[in-house]
Amino acid sequence: MCGIVGYIGDKSAANFLIDGLTKLEYRGYDSAGIAVFDGNEIFIEKSVGRLASLKEKLKGYTPKGSIGIGHTRWATHGRPSDINAHPHTDCHGDFVVVHNGIIENYMALKEDLIERGHKFLSETDTEVVPHLLEEFYKGDFASAVREVLKKIEGSYSLVFMSKNHHDELICAKQDNPLIVGIGEGENFIASDIPAIINKTRSTYILNDGEIAIVKKNSVEITDKNGNKIDKKIFNVSWNAEAAEKGGYEHFMLKEINEQPKAIRDTMRGFIKQIRPSKNNDERIAKDGSSIIFPELKWNPDFLKNIDKVYIVACGTAYHAGLVGKFYIEKLARMLVEVDLASEFRYRDPIIDEKTLTIFISQSGETSDTIAAMKESKRLGAKTLAITNVIGSSLAREADQVLYTIAGPEIAVASTKAYTTQLILMFMLALYMAQLRKTVSEDRTRELISLLKKIPAQISETLSDVDPIKTFARSYGFNEHVFYIGRSLDYDVALEGALKLKEISYIHAEAYAAGELKHGTLALIVEGVPVIALATQKSVYDKTISNIKEVKARDAVVIGIAAAGDTELEKYIDHVIYVPDTDELLIPLLTVVPLQLLAYYSAITRGCDVDKPRNLAKSVTVE
Ligand code: F6R
Repeated sequence: MCGIVGYIGDKSAANFLIDGLTKLEYRGYDSAGIAVFDGNEIFIEKSVGRLASLKEKLKGYTPKGSIGIGHTRWATHGRPSDINAHPHTDCHGDFVVVHNGIIENYMALKEDLIERGHKFLSETDTEVVPHLLEEFYKGDFASAVREVLKKIEGSYSLVFMSKNHHDELICAKQDNPLIVGIGEGENFIASDIPAIINKTRSTYILNDGEIAIVKKNSVEITDKNGNKIDKKIFNVSWNAEAAEKGGYEHFMLKEINEQPKAIRDTMRGFIKQIRPSKNNDERIAKDGSSIIFPELKWNPDFLKNIDKVYIVACGTAYHAGLVGKFYIEKLARMLVEVDLASEFRYRDPIIDEKTLTIFISQSGETSDTIAAMKESKRLGAKTLAITNVIGSSLAREADQVLYTIAGPEIAVASTKAYTTQLILMFMLALYMAQLRKTVSEDRTRELISLLKKIPAQISETLSDVDPIKTFARSYGFNEHVFYIGRSLDYDVALEGALKLKEISYIHAEAYAAGELKHGTLALIVEGVPVIALATQKSVYDKTISNIKEVKARDAVVIGIAAAGDTELEKYIDHVIYVPDTDELLIPLLTVVPLQLLAYYSAITRGCDVDKPRNLAKSVTVE
């Protein structure tokens, strides 16, 4: 996630750009930059770090010019640095571009452009865009932009500025947000409403495939072929604070709702479609799919021959690790240990050069996780970081890194980071399984095709929250809640209980359902809420028996089941259904109602959802 802005009018572009970027910093804050055109020259300044560093670099200087573009970055390709910060230019500085998204085919495009003599400065995917524009430009700016858009694959919101066209900016959208704010004698472009809300409330919210040609007195919207689109003006009614949260009441709710996109972005590039080959190779001709990890530079023989995997993390990331263990053991048939980072480093772990240690951390700055990684390296293991923050301490320390592309997570309670961590762990396990030939090609294809449906299935789950709200209102004032499940349902139950504890301050415990009668059943009395997950088909009957045990003690049991389950509702008070999928993938769906349950319980109790007491987003002390 990055924030982009553009201005064209009679006033100072720079003033709007800096102000707009300040409002968009929640979308990304590892570097920032602006480009301002005075009709002759384009002035560009960029800086690694938060916007304050850019302002510091400008030292109070306001570049002259009434047309300009700006960017606040959350790195996806290329670490945060001055050079990688946007805007990016072509070889001669004639075209300037800011971008939010991922150009998936940038490597091939870049190689081609280099062969044609283009000089690249950064490690970003974005830089191919201005160079392509330079290639296609024959005097008609809009048609060159359309040619560029035909070449690039992936997701983008883009703003283009040209030295040859001092009266227009062009912007385009595909899978990332982009709006045009309509002013009087001036117009604005932004990723999101907060950037423009104190300038205008009249906007065009662009749809995928739309291009806007923005001049100071007009906005023309077309499709990718240049056909005009008659678009309705959208009048913004939110206040500035609500706008920053995309109209949601809290960042947590916004981030829960961002999960389909975060998962799509994280999967992007790792699933390879195998197309029918010319030589009619039967295996390839089946038009299947496989997982690829171009980022992993280890020799595949190392991954094939590892004899043990450790997954190390804290909190929610640790819970993602538990699911990861299940995936790797089940699919790649390798022994996996999962450890809390604060424990791992002090217990003399048994590690050698055939051990792979995986460290999961949203922030990449959790002190215990970083220290555990250092210890692991000292003992000779190979280290892999899974993190959401490019250039974070963990990413810098690791031998290899895989990134979740969840965008900045602002709410203290982690939601979209967890589901994207699960996705990466699943794909990594399947990748290892491919290398070790522990899963058949048919099963791989089946899992990948189900994996691709997950974002839409999460959206479906998010579309019906009323039963969850009702349940939260009825039981949100209980002091104790229990979560039970077996197998992967138990791992998700642990995460559900943590979510409820940390934001609603309700005492919540998760138990492996089969463990209840070894002690915990003593706590189950009349009226105690029990959330029972029953989606794991391989242990379904056993879970049902455990659910009957708690129901027999008059607990109020709310079940989480897969659509099509007609059994569970016979025994309990209420069932929340999620779409059906393979039992390996269903944690990505069952966690969503649990996140929402925690959220609405916290609301019911009047808690500060985004900033729960005693907690910080990133724990940088031991
Ligand atoms: C819970 C939560 C924490 C973090 C933990 C690790 O919602 O967010 O438990 O998961 O502090 O943080 P990272 O992933 O940044 O290492």
